[in-house]
Amino acid sequence: MVTEKAMVVSAHPEASRVGMEVLKKGGNAYDAAIATQFALAVVLPAAGNIGGGGFLVYRQHNGEAGSLDYRETAPAAATASMYLDSAGNVVESLSTAGHLAAGVPGTVDGMVKVHEKFGSQPWAELVQPAIDLAANGVVLTEKEANGLNSGKASFLENNRHIPYLVREAIWQTGDTLRHPDLARTLVRIRDEGRAGFYAGETADLLVQEMQRGKGIISHQDLQNYAAVWRAPVTGRYKDYRVISMAPPSSGGVALLQLLQMIEPYDLNKYGWQSVPTVQLMTEAERRVYADRATYLGDPDFVQVPVQELLDADYLKQRMASVDLARATPSAAVKAGEVPVYESEQTTHFSIVDAQGNAVSATTTLNGGYGSKVVVEGAGFLLNNEMDDFSVKPGVPNMFGLVGGKANAIAPGKRMLSSMTPTILEKDGKLYMVVGTPGGSTIITSVYQAILNVVEYNMTMQEAVAAPRFHHQWLPDAIMHEPGAIPQKVREILRSKGYELEERGPYGRVDAILVLPDGRLEAGADPRGDDTAAGF
Ligand code: DON
Repeated sequence: MVTEKAMVVSAHPEASRVGMEVLKKGGNAYDAAIATQFALAVVLPAAGNIGGGGFLVYRQHNGEAGSLDYRETAPAAATASMYLDSAGNVVESLSTAGHLAAGVPGTVDGMVKVHEKFGSQPWAELVQPAIDLAANGVVLTEKEANGLNSGKASFLENNRHIPYLVREAIWQTGDTLRHPDLARTLVRIRDEGRAGFYAGETADLLVQEMQRGKGIISHQDLQNYAAVWRAPVTGRYKDYRVISMAPPSSGGVALLQLLQMIEPYDLNKYGWQSVPTVQLMTEAERRVYADRATYLGDPDFVQVPVQELLDADYLKQRMASVDLARATPSAAVKAGEVPVYESEQTTHFSIVDAQGNAVSATTTLNGGYGSKVVVEGAGFLLNNEMDDFSVKPGVPNMFGLVGGKANAIAPGKRMLSSMTPTILEKDGKLYMVVGTPGGSTIITSVYQAILNVVEYNMTMQEAVAAPRFHHQWLPDAIMHEPGAIPQKVREILRSKGYELEERGPYGRVDAILVLPDGRLEAGADPRGDDTAAGF
């Protein structure tokens, strides 16, 4: 889809419509982002949220860039060993499901802060479309119906009440799902802003829910939660300036490392998904994810050597050990290697308004439907973001990522993320707005979407649709979608010592490209229900 002036690309047609209507009424990209975020909390319960968090990168029409960190935090009662048994072993699923898996939600405070700084339309009008969707109900897409049906057992297991997402009959495509409790919670948020979530009835319901399931989020935790404006990480790739999310997400640092490590090589000459292209990208990825595991964490708690990790000489030296004759084996770690799970439930949206302001936001409950815990009476799901901490050094999390001290649990600390909401400039002008869900694969999916356009001249839509591959240091394998790497290339890579593993489709890249004539081209990922809307 190509539009003249303004565009929203999100994971659900109703959320894109809500955002676009705000833009049509004269709202700016920030107004549209707030409305889209709240709409996603209703229409995409697996990932859209008010019980989770996210990151938002923006670029003003005058070129000024910034970012908001509305990531969840560890509750005050959290401890480094909270997911270990008395023998020091990780207790299975304690950090991934149930009440103890939840971090203190950041989304509502995040949206309030966006509105305070940039909002041009009344707050109530931006929350209202989500209330209407929640009260009137939303027609389920096939993917949503399947998601709810496959979540049924875990919803029942992790709640003391029967959550409204469960019913006796299975959900069918075309059924209407209503969210009456969520509608009332959203009304409190509409009328009271921050206090409608972090205090009063919503807070009471959340803390009561915690008590039903040995959770530890307290009234004090909710009161103390604060989203933070942070300087984004920025850097260059050839003619492009890249603006992306700084720690506590690893996304921006890792993306810039990957781009700068690959810059000296002529990828276009090698060809898309050729042997040297796949090798060079893989070798860069292996090294970057090893850095991530060691150095990245919440900058308010640990010193993250961002400058050093992005230093040109350092990155050059990291690539010096690459030998195109054979794969570099990933160094062995103490912990065992686990497969990367299929959970793909975060969500990204990209927005450009008629003035040229751009918002790139990725938001999540972590796994699909988060902790599976629905706050009784308040109708929203809580995240399972605590699993993004390194619950024990060297033990992989649900995305197979390992970590150590830098990402250990501490009260009030933010868990390390891979979310990579990103904006590109070319010649000082807005060029691309891009991001995706996908856990550990987020960084490499954004990487490929960018390279597909700037190196391989794909349209934005082709770039997001193209099959992807991924390497994350450990496990030591190139994971790829069907058809992502030609059979012949796979054979040659195997002969050089690479492991390859095919997996199902992953990621939902939603992006906007500014065309040379100023029109906007959407990239809406065909892997999901992702849709563009604009005018
Ligand atoms: O912050 C992170 O990196 C993860 N919580 C993101 C999780 C995710 O993308 C899940 N699925 N798509």
